[in-house]
Amino acid sequence: MNNITLTRPIFPDQISQLQSQSALTLGEKVAAYTEAEIIDLLKNASGAITTLREPITAAVLDACPHLKVISNIAVGYNNIDVAACTARGIVVTNTPDVLTETTADFAWALLMAAARRLPEAERYLRDGHWQHWSLNQLVGKDVHGATLGIIGMGRIGGAIASRAVGFGMKVIYHNRRPSTDAGAAQLCSMDDLLTQSDFVVLVVPYNADTHHLINAQHIAQMKPDAVLVNIARGGVVDDAALIAAMKQGHLHSAGLDVFEGEPALNPGYLSLPNVVLTPHIASSSETTRRAMAQLAMNNCLAVLAGKPALNRVN
Ligand code: GLV
Repeated sequence: MNNITLTRPIFPDQISQLQSQSALTLGEKVAAYTEAEIIDLLKNASGAITTLREPITAAVLDACPHLKVISNIAVGYNNIDVAACTARGIVVTNTPDVLTETTADFAWALLMAAARRLPEAERYLRDGHWQHWSLNQLVGKDVHGATLGIIGMGRIGGAIASRAVGFGMKVIYHNRRPSTDAGAAQLCSMDDLLTQSDFVVLVVPYNADTHHLINAQHIAQMKPDAVLVNIARGGVVDDAALIAAMKQGHLHSAGLDVFEGEPALNPGYLSLPNVVLTPHIASSSETTRRAMAQLAMNNCLAVLAGKPALNRVN
C-alpha cells in the first residue's frame, strides 16, 4: 500500500476511502504547520493531499524524498513551489471545474452584499438602531444596468460574466490574451477596465506578475463610487493602499474573501463599514468542498497507480 499523507481532515467517509486504499497519515492540527511539522507529516509519504495553507517549498521536498505527487485541494496552487516539484519529477495537481459555479455564485454574493450594504444593514438592525423607515436609509448602489469589469478571464471569470446577463450589465474583461470563456464580455486594457467599470471583480491566479496588481495607482484609476470584489488571492491587492484610499472616501465599497497573510487581517479593514469581509469561503458549499476533496484524492491515487493525473499542473 502507498503511504499517503492528508495534511488536514476532509469529510469522514472520504478519509475512510483513503484508509482502505493506502497507509494514511492524517494531519489533525488546526493551526498553521511549521515547516518542520510539514516535513514530519510528509517524510514517508509518496502522495501528499494538501490544502492551500501548507507551503510546499523546495526545503520540504528535499526532506521528503519519497514524494511522487502533491495533490492540492484547491484550484490555486501558489502555496506549492511547482518549479521545484517539476525539477524533482513530482507531479502537482489541483481541483479546477468542480468549484467554478459555486465560486462564481459567491463572487455575486459579495458583489451584491457590498453594493446594497447588506452586512451594514444587518448590523444596524441587530444593534437596535432601526426606529423607523426613511427614504434615505442605508441607500446602496444599483447593480442592474451597470458595467462589470472582470480581471482574469478563466472558467470562474466566465461563470461570473454569464450571471451578469440577468442583471442587464455590460461586461468587460482584462486578461493576458482573449479568452474562450468570455462569452459576450469584451476584452479591454487594464486602464479601460479600471476607468469604465462600476464593479471590478478579481479572479486572477496569484504569482509574481499579479502581486499587488491592484495598487494605489490602479485604485486611484477606479471610479470614485466603484465596488471592488476579490475572490482570487489576498496578495493581488495592496491592502494598505486600498485601506488608505477607502479611508479618504474613494470607492463605494469592497467585498473581500481573501487577504494577504490570512487569516491575519490588516486591522484597517475592521474600521471600514463599507468593506464586506469573509474568511476565504468562496468555494465553500457542501457539494463543492466534497467534490474538491474527492478530486484531490482521485488525482493522488491515479498518479500513485501509475496512471495520468486528472488535473496535472506541471
Ligand atoms: C480557493 O481559493 C482555491 O484556490 O480553490
